[in-house]
Amino acid sequence: MCGIVGFVSEKNCLEEIKGGLEKLEYRGYDSAGVAFFSKGKISTLKKKGRVSSLFPLLQGKTSNCGIGHTRWATHGAPSDINAHPHRCGKFVIVHNGIIENYGELKKELAKKDKYPLSETDSEIIAMLLDNCYKGDVVEAVREVVKKLKGAFAVAVLCEDFVGKIFLFKRENPLIVGRGEGFFCFASDSPALISHTPLLCKMKDGDICEIDKTQAIFYEEKGKIVERVFIPSSLKSDSANKGDFQSFMLKEIYDIPKAIKNTLCKFEKIGLSSLAQKKLRNANHFLFLGCGSAYHACVYGKYLTEKITPLCASAETAGEYRYRRSNLPKNTVVVAVSQSGETADTVTAVKKAKSEGAFVIAITNVPSSTITTFAHESLVTLAEVEIAVAATKSYNTQLVALYWLVSEVALMHKKATYGAVYLGEKLRSAIIKTLDVAEEMHRIAKRYLGISKVFFLGKNFDYATALEGALKMKEISYIQVEGIPSGEIKHGPLALIDENCLVVHIITDYTLLDKCLNVVEEVSARGGETLIITSLNLPDKGVKVVKIPKLDAELMPIVSVIPTQFLAYFMAVEMGLDADKPRNLAKSVTVE
Ligand code: AGP
Ligand code: GLU
Repeated sequence: MCGIVGFVSEKNCLEEIKGGLEKLEYRGYDSAGVAFFSKGKISTLKKKGRVSSLFPLLQGKTSNCGIGHTRWATHGAPSDINAHPHRCGKFVIVHNGIIENYGELKKELAKKDKYPLSETDSEIIAMLLDNCYKGDVVEAVREVVKKLKGAFAVAVLCEDFVGKIFLFKRENPLIVGRGEGFFCFASDSPALISHTPLLCKMKDGDICEIDKTQAIFYEEKGKIVERVFIPSSLKSDSANKGDFQSFMLKEIYDIPKAIKNTLCKFEKIGLSSLAQKKLRNANHFLFLGCGSAYHACVYGKYLTEKITPLCASAETAGEYRYRRSNLPKNTVVVAVSQSGETADTVTAVKKAKSEGAFVIAITNVPSSTITTFAHESLVTLAEVEIAVAATKSYNTQLVALYWLVSEVALMHKKATYGAVYLGEKLRSAIIKTLDVAEEMHRIAKRYLGISKVFFLGKNFDYATALEGALKMKEISYIQVEGIPSGEIKHGPLALIDENCLVVHIITDYTLLDKCLNVVEEVSARGGETLIITSLNLPDKGVKVVKIPKLDAELMPIVSVIPTQFLAYFMAVEMGLDADKPRNLAKSVTVE
């Protein structure tokens, strides 16, 4: 969600800051801004809209030290004034996150006749720094942090310390990078990776002071501590879209490689002995995640109940965290999050732990926040995913779930596929499925202008219906719903007419007849059906997209691909930016 980035260097570094802001764009934002030292003073430039609309303002400017921000508004509408950086006295700050008690803090400062200019929660940080400052920024930060409630990653410039940047955080990610003649930071490593492979993930409570020669870390009590920079595991070309028109399209074509690498890794590393013991004794699985990751959880639930003797449930992390859960003894919670930073999922993990569950995280980002709280982490190898709409990360989450649940099945002496068989079968099915791209493009053109879309599926196919629907609504802004096939007659049928498309996923022979009844019901009411199937179907007079056939429990890994293409081409044909849908952020680090 949004992002912060900054550089302090021997040379002019405004180009690097601009590049960093561009790399952060994928996270979703509505305004952008920079602050930099110029002749001993701090200049700030900020603007509502795309990062590119900020760049002309930077024309001809130079600086050795600056910070940048892409804002995803939480408090106060997107506007020039609410855009970051925010200034108070000698302090200029950029902030990711939410300051929950900003209202009370504002009232306190109002007693001293200090009032904010913006409607944001963030400006209060600059105001408090200005208020607490007595010549030592680290001390002022320590005092301010004690007053703040909520989550934050903050970068600060102070006019008394030209060429220095101060950093601090709680819960939101912040990474410091080191290179030849410069130091840098960002909320997200892809923003730095083309500059330096040496990174240090900041700890909650630490304060870091960087200049062009060094990074000094202070722990919570103000004592200087050693923190280690380690080589990043990201490849610098993974944040590049190569010859593809968009990241989303590239990332769909990355799926075979992502799946192969993920399975090979899991086979090599396996599970820790503690996880094996907990899984052996487990009698209940709870799968938690948000958005696409939740849909992967729905798959995990159907899978567990199909191939193991255990009972399982799936829930959105945001719901679980606010309810009384009464988890049965020996519950294993599987928390799924591509970014590993989603606030709802991270908090759900903490809650599950406090209730005695053993927590396994499935994430795509090593050393993300979720991995620091989970007992065991399965890190998928989808590599960095830039498009806001998840594609390859979703497929690898399903593979990770398949692998994990298969391990449990084996513990209960239930036969499953070996990883080698699985890897080969899946890869070739996926590669064949990628050939449907053109067909999906034609279909997208044909249904351009459609106002209502339903995605239907039963059991495993229901997970795909949910995910297909989310993909389309995220990037084409069409009103789309994903529902279990059998539910259509319990209400949604009222919406079926000639302006409605029903995309029906059918990949399980045992459920075929029931699904075909629904196809008839839709046709009888003038609705159009598009079937995505791996089965040989009788002619029902509707359009059918054929995909390779695997067993039902593996099909979601494959059948989601045509839905990803459909959403993508729909957005392209509508002239929309599929990589950066409006209002959305790649990783939602606030509530
Ligand atoms: C997926 O296309 C969405 N952008 C969104 O639903 C996402 O899956 C959700 O926010 C969870 O993110 P996470 O996997 O990083 O936790
Ligand atoms: N809560 C702050 C705002 O609305 C920061 C949002 C962000 O993380 O971009 O300005």
